[in-house]
Amino acid sequence: MPQSRRKLHIKTFGCQMNAYDSERMAEALAPAGYETTEAMDGADLVILNTCHIREKAAEKVYSQLGRVRKNKQARTAQGRDTMVVVAGCVAQAEGEEIIARAPVVDIVVGPQSLHRLSDLVAKAESGERSVETEFPADDKFTALPKRATGKRQASAFVTVQEGCDKFCTFCVVPYTRGAEYSRPAHAIVAEVERLAGAGVREVTLLGQNVNAYHGDGEDGATWPLARLLRRLAEIPDIARMRFTTSHPRDMDDDLIGLFGDEAKLMPYLHLPYQAGSDHILAAMNRKHTAEEYERLVERIRTARPDIALSTDIIVGFPGETDADFQATLDVAKRVGFAQAYSFKYSARPGTPGAALDGQVPEALKKERLAILQAQLDESRRSFDHATVGRRIPVLFEGKGRKPNQIAGRSPYLQAVYVEGPETLIGYIAEVDISAAGPNSLTGVMNAGFEWREPIQAAV
Ligand code: 5AD
Ligand code: SF4
Repeated sequence: MPQSRRKLHIKTFGCQMNAYDSERMAEALAPAGYETTEAMDGADLVILNTCHIREKAAEKVYSQLGRVRKNKQARTAQGRDTMVVVAGCVAQAEGEEIIARAPVVDIVVGPQSLHRLSDLVAKAESGERSVETEFPADDKFTALPKRATGKRQASAFVTVQEGCDKFCTFCVVPYTRGAEYSRPAHAIVAEVERLAGAGVREVTLLGQNVNAYHGDGEDGATWPLARLLRRLAEIPDIARMRFTTSHPRDMDDDLIGLFGDEAKLMPYLHLPYQAGSDHILAAMNRKHTAEEYERLVERIRTARPDIALSTDIIVGFPGETDADFQATLDVAKRVGFAQAYSFKYSARPGTPGAALDGQVPEALKKERLAILQAQLDESRRSFDHATVGRRIPVLFEGKGRKPNQIAGRSPYLQAVYVEGPETLIGYIAEVDISAAGPNSLTGVMNAGFEWREPIQAAV
């Protein structure tokens, strides 16, 4: 009888870049016979792909590891082995400490060392535990296997840039993900062409500081993000492009102009402003004022008046007064965000912000966050309501929650549900939007829809 394949369970925390890394890890382990499973108790190999961005990240990982240990004990009692890997940014930050505190862990591997994973697993099989958190010079992207999606997928993420040199004083990313690095354009083009060949219609380019992209171009010059996007727009089957996350300082004219010139670039931009008061922005080392941010928004809206803007905001940064907080509310009100993510400041050990005077009490942070979120919800609702009555092209990505329903995304990244055939998944069709709910739009399919050859089997 053939040996049954080994099972791999990956639990992913945090950002989309971690989601991308989790997919790459699954691919890297496939040649060793691992296939993924949703159930941890059935897994021979468990990977926690961790996030370190906010408070108690490490503590959460240790409590997860408690669950993993119980699971391993139960499996050991049945005579089954379980290997345990901690990957991601907590792995990077804690390193050896994880093995010392959690003996259940066999491998600790940082985000820059993922291409070493299958070697480390092979070593662990012969009883050798490893901690791999160096920032090696070799490119993990070239060392990882070529991606094959394996499943039909309308939209995909592609990491184009990693790390950050901005050193915002609240943020751990420059320490956990290291210095800025941009993948060469030819590797990204090849990856997107492969995805397009497998039926992908939309790509979202990922990077902690994606608009600082400066990779080697196909012509030998250094390409900024706008140049890369223009090149990717030439791939015929790619109908939609997005990118995230952008820093206000790196929005150059070319990139702004592209929102007006390039129909494949979707009218959605995630542009964190973090705070509305200039002295808080200075203490955060954001390198821009509130007015500069708002002027930038005006320029972007001149290029693409209907753009949906999204943002990140932190309340309760050290020294934040009521007036500072009011300034944050005022910026949000004036800009009118379509989407926003807001957080209570959490002091991250090792970052300059953690050592500042004037830490804001937890109860006050909570109060401010509730006020801000109520205002942001209102703003999102008004953006969504403004799309009711419009005819909007939707890229269908999967089945809906109800029978005969399919789900997709508007150009503004809103979730849209309509009655329609599953055969439309992977296609763009026009929808007359009839209602806006709390988290999604609903509508009626318009008869005219884009026609394409049926999607090829995944390569
Ligand atoms: N505390 C609160 N929020 C934070 N973020 C990053 N670091 C912290 C922190 N220490 C938020 C920022 C960033 C988003 C990804 O997470 O708003 O843009
Ligand atoms: Fe962190 Fe600032 Fe870099 Fe964003 S730009 S990853 S918030 S340091």
